[in-house]
Amino acid sequence: MSCTIIVGGFFGDEGKGKIVAHIAHHDRPTIISRGGVGPNAGHTVQVGDKEYGVRMVPSGFIYPDARLFIGTGVLVDPRVFAHEIDLLGVGDRTFVDHRCGIIEEEHIRRDKGSEHLAKTIGSTGSGCGPANSDRVLRTSRQAKDVPELQPYLIDVPLELNTAMDRGETVLLEGTQGFGISLYFGTYPFVTSKDTSASQIAADNGVGPTRIDDVVVVFKAFPTRVGEGPFSTEMARSVSDSMGIQEFGTVTHRQRRIGQWDGEMAHYSAMINGCTQAAITGIDRVDKACYGIREYSKLTPKAREFLAQAEEDIGHPITLISTGPEITQIIDIRDQS
Ligand code: IMP
Ligand code: MG
Repeated sequence: MSCTIIVGGFFGDEGKGKIVAHIAHHDRPTIISRGGVGPNAGHTVQVGDKEYGVRMVPSGFIYPDARLFIGTGVLVDPRVFAHEIDLLGVGDRTFVDHRCGIIEEEHIRRDKGSEHLAKTIGSTGSGCGPANSDRVLRTSRQAKDVPELQPYLIDVPLELNTAMDRGETVLLEGTQGFGISLYFGTYPFVTSKDTSASQIAADNGVGPTRIDDVVVVFKAFPTRVGEGPFSTEMARSVSDSMGIQEFGTVTHRQRRIGQWDGEMAHYSAMINGCTQAAITGIDRVDKACYGIREYSKLTPKAREFLAQAEEDIGHPITLISTGPEITQIIDIRDQS
């Protein structure tokens, strides 16, 4: 039995969805529960030639044998939830904590209509900031107040903790990334909640003593969407010449691309309580690594990069993603 948290170490979009999907197929959890802010998150999971972008349902949905939970701390947009349940056909195994805060259409209007949120901060316009502010002001509705959500309501902390008592394995997936944490990120250019591993545990009502592993996911070339400082950002012409272009899952905005940031990786690993790290996009460090599944086949250039990254992070890199598809990964967790 074990409880593993998976979080993003940079500014989000590190490829957590793919890492969660891989770990799930490997470790066979009975529950995958998500924390994080709400439908401002977009996880992309590619299986074969099919690509899924999800915002409410845990990205671990790809693994068919787990129940999928949305933790107490998360904001739920009932319209996005209904759409995804339908699209993915996971309505029979997806559950929502009865205390989740609700995003109303009015929250979306306030998010998109606010000069400060939409323009200065560059929010995703998904209503999360205004909904979290109403939640703090205690004027928000909860999931239990929404008729359409009734069939999906459960007590997420109770289910998770009793599953662990029975000796089952559970995964807690984070969303967003460390750099946009309300507490530790580049305030005010941040999201409306902490995004670190402790917050993901709290979002799910799992106490700190029950966490066995914290996997922090870093991408070889970090990205940032929206406004705010990004110390290792490259000029667009440089990232274009490297063939790196990315667009947001939720907003379709072009992502800003940066070089590896060892200082940030170190600080992020510290606050997240990292036990193991995952690196995604190693095929961008050296194209020859695309799709490789064995550590011994990585090129010297990629190994050099990984050695430096491991020194910066201060914890072993045990998962190395070599392409977007879920099977394109090197997993050395067992040997470390
Ligand atoms: P909000 O969370 O929609 O209020 O947006 C605040 C900032 O966080 C903006 O810069 C967004 O682009 C960023 N942000 C929010 N969620 C994500 C995410 O899941 N990935 C990357 N950036 C995000
Ligand atoms: Mg994303």
